[in-house]
Amino acid sequence: MTRIVFSAASGDLTVWIRELQALMPDAEVTAFDARAQSGADYAVVWAPPQELFEHERHLRAIFCLGAGVDALLAMPKRPRAVPLVRLGDAGMSVQMAEYVCHAVLRFTREFERYEADMRAGQWQLRKPLLREHFPIGVLGLGVIGARVARALSSFEFAVHGWSRTEHSLEGITCHHGADGLEKLLRATRILVCVLPLTPDTESILCRSNLEKLMPGAYLINVARGAHLVEDDLLALLLEGHLAGACLDVFREEPLPAGHAFWSETRITMTPHIAARTLRANSLAQIAGKIRDHQAGKPIDGIVDPARGY
Ligand code: NAP
Ligand code: GLV
Repeated sequence: MTRIVFSAASGDLTVWIRELQALMPDAEVTAFDARAQSGADYAVVWAPPQELFEHERHLRAIFCLGAGVDALLAMPKRPRAVPLVRLGDAGMSVQMAEYVCHAVLRFTREFERYEADMRAGQWQLRKPLLREHFPIGVLGLGVIGARVARALSSFEFAVHGWSRTEHSLEGITCHHGADGLEKLLRATRILVCVLPLTPDTESILCRSNLEKLMPGAYLINVARGAHLVEDDLLALLLEGHLAGACLDVFREEPLPAGHAFWSETRITMTPHIAARTLRANSLAQIAGKIRDHQAGKPIDGIVDPARGY
C-alpha cells in the first residue's frame, strides 16, 4: 500500500489528512510522527521539520503545499535525489491577481485618501490621476505573474513583464535578462514582484534597482521578503522617490514588534495572505500527481534545484 506522510507547520492537519485520504482511498495518509514506523513513499509538506527527511529515507517524491520552494530547497537534510514538486496555480493565481489589482487601484484611485476624507466628514473631489502616468512592471511571468500581468492589462494599464527566458504575452511588453530588467525599471511607476526567491533574485528590490523607477513610484511585493532590502525601501520613501509600498511578505515573519514598517504609514501590509493555499484545489492536484507518478506518467511542477524554482 502507498504510504503518504503529511506535515505542515500550521492549520488543522486532521481535515487536510482526512480529505487527502478520501481522494486516495487505496493509500494510507498519516501525519508525520518521528516515533512512528518509517517507510512513506510520498511526503506532502509545508515547512516540515528536518527530522522528517532523516526519518523517511525511501521517499519517491516530496510535494510542497505552496508555489515557492525556497525554504524547502534550503533544508540541508532534504534528499537531493528525490523530486520536489511545487503547487502549480491551484487557485493561487486568481487570488494574486485580485490582490495586486486591489493594491494598484487603491493607489491610483487614491481610495485611502478618499476613505480618510470621508471619515473626517470631508466631501472632497481630487483631480483624477491618469492611468497613462502609471505604467506597471511585473517581475516574474510564471504561473502567477502572467495572470497578474494580464489582469492589470485588462484595466488598460501599460504593463511590462520580466522573466529569465524570453516570453511573448499578448498585451504585455515582455523583457528578459539583465538588459530587460533595466528597460522595465526605467519604464515603470508601479513595480510588482512575483519572482521566486533564488540566489539570482534575492535582494533584487534594492536601492540601485528601485532608484531606476519613475519618481513617485509604488512597490508591491507579494513574492518573498528576502527580495526586498528593507532599509533601502525606508530610505527611498523618506527621500520621496517612492510614494508608497504594499507588502505581503517580509524577511522575518511574523513581522517583529518594533519593526520600522509598523509605523510607516506609506507602507500597507498584510500577513502573507496574498494567495492562500486552497485545500480542495491543492489536495486534488497533489492526489492527481501522486497517481500519475505511481503509474509512471510524467508530472509537471518538478523543481529544478539548479534554477532554484
Ligand atoms: P513560477 O511559475 O515558477 O514563475 C517564476 C517566474 O519568475 C518565471 O517567469 C521565471 O522566468 C521568473 N524568474 C525566475 N528567476 C528569474 C530571474 N533570475 N530573472 C528573471 N526572471 C526570473 O512561479 P509562480 O507560481 O508564478 O510563483 C512565483 C512566486 O510567488 C513563488 O515562488 C512564491 O515565492 C510567490 N508566492 C507568494 C504567495 C503569497 O501569498 N505571497 C503565494 C504564492 C506564491 P521564466 O519564465 O523564464 O522561467
Ligand atoms: C506562498 O507563499 C506560496 O509560495 O505558495
